[in-house]
Amino acid sequence: MPRILFAASECAPWVKTGGLGDVAEALPAALAHLGLEIRTLLPGYREVLAATRAAAELARLEPCGEMPGARLLAARLPSGVSALVLDAPALYDREGGPYLDAHDLDWPDNALRFGLLCRAAARIAAAGLLPDFRPDVLHINDWQTGLAAAYLHYAGAGTQGEPAASPGAAARSTAARPRVVFTVHNLAFQGLFPAQALPGLGLPQEALSPQALEFHGRLSFMKAGLQFADAITTVSPGYAAEIRSEPLGCGLAGLLEQRASRLYGILNGIDDVTWNPATDPHIAARYDRDRLEAKARNKEALQARLGLAADPTLPLLGFVGRLAWQKGIDLLVEAAPRLAALPAQLAVLGSGDREIEIELRAIAARWPGRVAVAHGLDEALAHQIEAGADLFLMPSRYEPCGLNQMYSQRYGTPPVARATGGHADNIVDCTPEALRSGSATGFLFQEISAEALFAAVERACAAWRDPAAWRALQRNGMARDFGWSASAARYARLYEELLRAPR
Ligand code: ADP
Ligand code: GLC
Repeated sequence: MPRILFAASECAPWVKTGGLGDVAEALPAALAHLGLEIRTLLPGYREVLAATRAAAELARLEPCGEMPGARLLAARLPSGVSALVLDAPALYDREGGPYLDAHDLDWPDNALRFGLLCRAAARIAAAGLLPDFRPDVLHINDWQTGLAAAYLHYAGAGTQGEPAASPGAAARSTAARPRVVFTVHNLAFQGLFPAQALPGLGLPQEALSPQALEFHGRLSFMKAGLQFADAITTVSPGYAAEIRSEPLGCGLAGLLEQRASRLYGILNGIDDVTWNPATDPHIAARYDRDRLEAKARNKEALQARLGLAADPTLPLLGFVGRLAWQKGIDLLVEAAPRLAALPAQLAVLGSGDREIEIELRAIAARWPGRVAVAHGLDEALAHQIEAGADLFLMPSRYEPCGLNQMYSQRYGTPPVARATGGHADNIVDCTPEALRSGSATGFLFQEISAEALFAAVERACAAWRDPAAWRALQRNGMARDFGWSASAARYARLYEELLRAPR
C-alpha cells in the first residue's frame, strides 16, 4: 500500500474557509480507511496550534531564502488521521484568516507563508526529513501547495535540504522522487506573486521561464502544480473538461490541454455521517426517506428561527455559501424580489462580499416574513437550512464540484442549480422522463441569468405543488450514495497507476 503525504492549506474542523477544508478532512480519512498510510500536512495557524497544544516536535526545517526556520509537530486530527503541523509562528501564528487579514486583504507575505508550506511538503516527501515516513506520493491541493511540485522538480529540496538557489543545484534527481498528484479545487485562485519573489523562495532563476512558473511576468504557484505534477486531478469530470478551454481555464487552458492525458476529474464525496438527516444533532426533527413527514417540523423551526412567516403553504428556498461572484449570488439578489412575489420564502446564509451583504439586508427589510438573511459562518444554521428548506438554490457561474447540492439531495431538499461542473455531474434534472424512470433529483438551468434562475425555480415550485411527484424526487436524491468510498478508491487506484508507470 502506498504511503501518502497529503498537503493542504486548510483542514476541517481546525480551519476551514470552504469545501477544500471539508475535502482535506474527509479524503485522507477515507484513504486511511482503505488501508493507505497517510499523513496530512498543514500550517500551524493560531487555531491549529490551539487544537494541538501538546504536539511533539518531530523535525526542524532550516531557514531558506527569506523563509524562516520551522518545526514539524506531530498531532492527530479528530478523524484519526495523523497530522503534521508546520510551526513557524512568524508566518502563521496571527489573528485573522488563513489567506486574508481582518480587512479581507491578502496577507502581504503569502508567497513566503505558502512557499514554506510547499518546501516543507517537498522536504518530507523527498529528503527523508521524517525517517519513519517516506511517502511514495505527495498529494497537493490548490495553489497554496502547488509550488511543492517545483521544489521537487528543481531537486534542491530533494537532496540534503539545500535550497536550489544556484543553477548548478538544479540538477534533477528523479530516482527516489515521489510521484506528485495535484488537485485543483478552484483554478481561479492562482497564487500570483511578483517575479522578484523567486529568490526569497529559494528557487533557481530558471524556474521563471514560461515552461515553468512564469505567468504574464509573474510567478504562479498554480502553474507550478500544473506543470510539474505527475497527475492533475480536479474535483469533477465536468470541471476537468471545462478548464481545458477559456474562460474557465483562467488563462491556463492551453497548458491544461497540453497535459490533458494526465488530467482526471474525480468527484468529491461528502461526510455522510455529519450530513445525515436521520442523526443530525443540529436539526429540530430527524427524518429519513421513509419518514419524510418529519421534515415539515424543520421548516417550522427554520421559519421561527429566522423570523419568516409560519406558513406551510409557501415554498421555502434556501441558500448557503460564500457571497461571491463564482456562486452567482448577484443573480440571486437580482431575482430575489420576484422570488418573494411568487410567492415564496427565501432563507440565505453566507459571508463574503460586503456590497452583496448590504443588498441582501435591504431585500430582507423590504420583504419581512418572506426573506431572511443571516451573515457569518454558522454550521448549525447551514444544517437547519438544508433540513428546513423545500428547495436549495445554487446559481453558480462555475462550480468545480460543490458540496451543498449533495447535502441537499441527501436532506430531501432538491437543488435548483446552474448546470456547471459538479452540479451537472451529480444532479439529474427533473424532466418528465427522469421522474418516470426514478432518476430525477433536482433542477438544472443553463444560462447565467436571473431570468434563467427564476424560470428554474418556477418549474421547481410547480413540481413542489404535486405531492406525489415531489415525494418521488426527494426520495430519489435521498437514496443516492454521496459518501467518499468510491472516490477514495479512485484516488488510490491513481496513486498505484502512477507508481507502476515509468515517469
Ligand atoms: P466552496 O468551497 O466553493 O465555498 P463548497 O460547496 O465546496 O464551496 O463548500 C462550501 C462548504 O462551506 C460547505 O460545507 C458549506 O456548507 C460551507 N459553508 C459555506 N458558507 C457557510 C456559512 N456561511 N456557514 C456555514 N457553512 C458554510
Ligand atoms: C472549491 C470549489 C468547490 C469545491 C471545493 C472542494 O472551493 O469552489 O466547488 O467543492 O473546492 O473541492
